Amino acid sequence: MCGIVGYVGTGSAKEMLLAGLSALEYRGYDSAGIALVRKGKLLVRKESGKLRALEAKVTGSDFDSRLGIGHTRWATHGAPTRENAHPHVSGDGRVAIVHNGIIENFMELKEELILEHGVAFASETDSEVIAHLVSLYYEGDLVEAVRRAAKRMRGAYAACVVAADDPGKIVAIRKDAPLIAGMCEEGGLLASDIPALLKYTRDIYLIENNEIVVITKQDVEIYDEERTRMNRARTHIDWDVAAAEKGGYEHFMLKEIYEQPKGVRETLAHRLDESGAIQLDDLGFTKEWADKLERIYIVACGTACHAGMVGKAMIEKYAKIPCETCLSSEFRYSDPIVNERTLCICISQSGETSDTLEALREAKRRGAEALSIVNVVGSSVARASDHVFYTWAGPEIAVASTKAYTTQLVSLYLIALYLGLLRGRATEAEAGALLAQLAEVPALIEDVLGREDSIRALARQHYKKEKIFYAGRGTDVATAEEASLKLKEISYINSYSIAAGELKHGTIALITRDVLFFALATQTKLYDKMLSNIEEMKARQAQVVAVAKASDARVAEVADDTFFIPDCSDEVAPIVAIVMFQLFAYHVAKFRGREIDQPRNLAKSVTVE
Ligand code: F6R
Repeated sequence: MCGIVGYVGTGSAKEMLLAGLSALEYRGYDSAGIALVRKGKLLVRKESGKLRALEAKVTGSDFDSRLGIGHTRWATHGAPTRENAHPHVSGDGRVAIVHNGIIENFMELKEELILEHGVAFASETDSEVIAHLVSLYYEGDLVEAVRRAAKRMRGAYAACVVAADDPGKIVAIRKDAPLIAGMCEEGGLLASDIPALLKYTRDIYLIENNEIVVITKQDVEIYDEERTRMNRARTHIDWDVAAAEKGGYEHFMLKEIYEQPKGVRETLAHRLDESGAIQLDDLGFTKEWADKLERIYIVACGTACHAGMVGKAMIEKYAKIPCETCLSSEFRYSDPIVNERTLCICISQSGETSDTLEALREAKRRGAEALSIVNVVGSSVARASDHVFYTWAGPEIAVASTKAYTTQLVSLYLIALYLGLLRGRATEAEAGALLAQLAEVPALIEDVLGREDSIRALARQHYKKEKIFYAGRGTDVATAEEASLKLKEISYINSYSIAAGELKHGTIALITRDVLFFALATQTKLYDKMLSNIEEMKARQAQVVAVAKASDARVAEVADDTFFIPDCSDEVAPIVAIVMFQLFAYHVAKFRGREIDQPRNLAKSVTVE
């Protein structure tokens, strides 16, 4: 996803924009640029590569300006070249824009602009059409021009627009891509993400879909698409810049792995009252409604979907409601069986994932009640849902998700239990037992973190392997999937995950002596079956590392190596075991010299389909 910033005020626009963009660097980008309005002219500089390259090009008093927009681009349409970098400028050089998202009908608009208006395009991007459209409609009123341009655009966008002839304001629009605004002593600010503004203000305006926002040095004005002024309360952000900094850790990912005990503790603390009972009353679920529920769909992408796989098991176990976990990208096109007796649970760290947002809308269109489990306060998924359960992971910056996952798991356990109690399908004793286990989880995670040295040693031993398998049964399948995703996304190793019972139906053909095979054996009722799977792998000469509970005396006799997680119940084992695999992936990637926080081809939130 691209990062966008805008500033107008009394300070140096260049400094403010570069500071905002550098706060968004963690999200990954391949080119950057700024447009400043100075002495009635637009001054645009853009460079491919890192911000440093851009900074070097904007030194000196020529770039002294009080108003501008900036962008870090993640290439979608067109290569990451300087031409394709934002800002994009209209043919007469009077209008500049930055854009995050996708203009789906850009081909059609481009054709019209070329054929009917003789516009010459300077880039291969879809975004450039915005600059030309706004310029075409500009007749002295920038807000109106942007409004008219937006009416022609289909797709997802957050875009900021400046005009050399209107040097006091920045106009921005939003549809299905994040956009926030704020005021600080030095003026008005716009950005795609909170960290860009945190240095200047903690009170932000969340811009809604189809709204237009105008910032000047004194004010933030928000309008709906018919240009009616909207009142918007500010949202206070209570985490600080330090939470979005590395705090002495070499990488954000490692810091975030270590923040998991805290994230789990906070997620529990926000949802348990003084007597230790689950507090989800604010969600407004009634017994009558819960009793009538026929089906739950969990929809999510990637890591969040793996959390959903465990969530399904917990919902069926405690609430006794049939539950299906679907990839958002499949769900939205699958003609799902949804009605008013369906609950759709959307899980998303960023709350901006386009597929998940659309899946949620589809479920709602079909009558479902929508509950989201989200980390980013005020994000699009949160706002589109009927009910929100916030995870208290704090900002997650590394592309590879870690603390969001474990807090999503804890959230799902609480929701499963709450629904079970509401429906009278879970007993107080069951609830008490699971809550007691959850209370132990932070300490159990700390135990695994305390064994980082041995995990690093395991990583050192295996980091050159090219084929790594993860297998398990029951909820260990979800852990295997997540462990494998962590490894492949940051180390680029070809890694596979599979339900162990499926191995013999085909995949076993890939097992040879050069395979490293992680066998998860944390689920008691499937334990013996897992031992047989280990034997099968050994017979094919794979190197087997078992992951089992500390008091397991048998597994070490069959596996080549064993990593023990502390003794815990089968239910909470997924939250504990994954921490070992996160650290393993981290150290393998480090031994391989990878860019851990910003792996190639990946962005922190995926706002395009
Ligand atoms: C993997 C990872 C992704 C995300 C996925 C969904 O480490 O981070 O698989 O989990 O893109 O993102 P959110 O949760 O923001 O919807």
